[in-house]
Amino acid sequence: MSKVEIQPLIANRYSPVAFSDKEVDNEKLMSLFEAAGKAASSYNDQPWRYIYAKKSEEGFKKIASLLSDSNQLWAPNAAILVMAVARKTLTRNEKPNRNSFHDLGLSVANLTYQANHLGLFLHQMGGFDYKKAQEIFAIPDNYEAHSVIAIGYPGDVNSLEGVVYTKATKPSVRKGVNEIAFHGEWKEETNH
Ligand SMILES: Cc1cc2nc3c(=O)[nH]c(=O)nc-3n(C[C@H](O)[C@H](O)[C@H](O)COP(=O)(O)O)c2cc1C
Repeated sequence: MSKVEIQPLIANRYSPVAFSDKEVDNEKLMSLFEAAGKAASSYNDQPWRYIYAKKSEEGFKKIASLLSDSNQLWAPNAAILVMAVARKTLTRNEKPNRNSFHDLGLSVANLTYQANHLGLFLHQMGGFDYKKAQEIFAIPDNYEAHSVIAIGYPGDVNSLEGVVYTKATKPSVRKGVNEIAFHGEWKEETNH
């Protein structure tokens, strides 16, 4: 581990499975999207789009209905569900944008740390029916639904049961710096 401190928002980020019932103030929610919009992107094309809904809203039920069975067990307890969508072609010429998912990821990272700054946490999910999402939200073909994000204030892990409790309490193991950063040359994986 480095002797240099990692920025606390980064060091303390995690994906919660337990969410509190506390609602998210609209101004705060909008600040997450404002932060998301400040990410860097190829040609400044800003290919990120977000469909969001609060727990009491119809859109929330629509997004939740798309989740995989294992995500259905906990994600609908979040205050907000967001679908992250990428524009797959560049606005300037409609040619494929090979950076669109990369840039969406940068934007979601911004959204994450703005949320964490406000005491809110995110849990991203690839486990949802993205083809059906395309259909029920009438998302055009040059855009692709990439992930669903559960957002809310963290809840009490001890209120969880069974596989959801196990998931929430499982340690999140990280690769070492030497496994991801190679000094001047490619290094084969050695751990399997
Ligand atoms: C694009 C993406 C898709 C993910 N899909 C799921 C998912 O479908 N279900 C789930 O429970 N977690 C999902 N995760 C969360 C990861 O499992 C989690 O980030 C990882 O285990 C590291 O844990 P941490 O975020 O708490 O550090 C996803 C994360 C990302 C970035």
